[in-house]
Amino acid sequence: MSEVASTPGSVTVRVPAKVNVQLAVGGARPDGFHDLANVFLAVGLYDEVTVAPADSLRVTCEGPDAARVPLDRTNLAARAVEKLAERYGRRADVHVHIAKDIPVAGGMAGGSADGAGALVAADALWGTRAPREELLEICAELGSDVPFSLVGGAALGTGRGEKLEVLPVGGPFHWVFAVADGGLSTPAVYGEFDRLNAGVEVPEPVASPVLLDALASGDASALAGALSNDLQAAALSLRPSLAATLAVGADAGALASLVSGSGPTTAFLVPDAEVAAEVADALVVSGTCRAARVAVGPVRGAVVL
Ligand code: C5P
Repeated sequence: MSEVASTPGSVTVRVPAKVNVQLAVGGARPDGFHDLANVFLAVGLYDEVTVAPADSLRVTCEGPDAARVPLDRTNLAARAVEKLAERYGRRADVHVHIAKDIPVAGGMAGGSADGAGALVAADALWGTRAPREELLEICAELGSDVPFSLVGGAALGTGRGEKLEVLPVGGPFHWVFAVADGGLSTPAVYGEFDRLNAGVEVPEPVASPVLLDALASGDASALAGALSNDLQAAALSLRPSLAATLAVGADAGALASLVSGSGPTTAFLVPDAEVAAEVADALVVSGTCRAARVAVGPVRGAVVL
């Protein structure tokens, strides 16, 4: 627990990372976004976002990757409190502190988690009691993945990913995540997707019924056979070294491996905690990633601690 989290009158919210078990991407829309069928699963790697009264809005961050987190108004946590303050006619004078454990710029929705966390924390701190629909609307304004960080569990995101339908999910599903050196820009990966698909009729994105059944039944082998990510080729094109990471996990006993979201984090579905530890060890020893993390999903979305 960080120093700021014990400030009297502060509120701390815990928010999970996500992995996309299916990411079906359509052609570019006139607004530059892509229609998606985006099946999200929340996994147990968490950021903790604490909001406390202050003289003016400021953001701080602690954790191994803290130096890579922007602390200005581009941080989704800052934008979240500003948006809520604006709607309720008050000043966003708070100190937002992020205890960061989710890999940064990795395709695991760490920035989105901080946006959802700060929003829920400010709502509790100020007693605004915004209806859940309004919180979800603000999340969607902040970014395509932010509503899911609030909701957690498993959900199908359509539109640009922000329109959510909660999905039944069994499990637990065991995962290993390989954290790559450096990040990948999400717009750059979508841009590469467009470049690779230039002149091709990209089909409408649809959720796979086989995948949804596997998710609901908690059958890891069936889920492994159905995992897919239409951004994987684009992420590999921009970062060819990810192919070696994917191969190491597969050789070490993963049921399936894929790029997480827009990458560069890679995700390995494994049968149990024992194999998770073996795959994580093999990934670290291989030197093809910066770190390996083990996590289980589904887990809850944003919760006030
Ligand atoms: O919604 P968000 O701000 O997270 O999106 C970041 C960028 O990712 C967008 O500016 C766009 O380039 C790309 N994107 C997209 N289609 C989506 C979601 C994101 O092209 N459905």
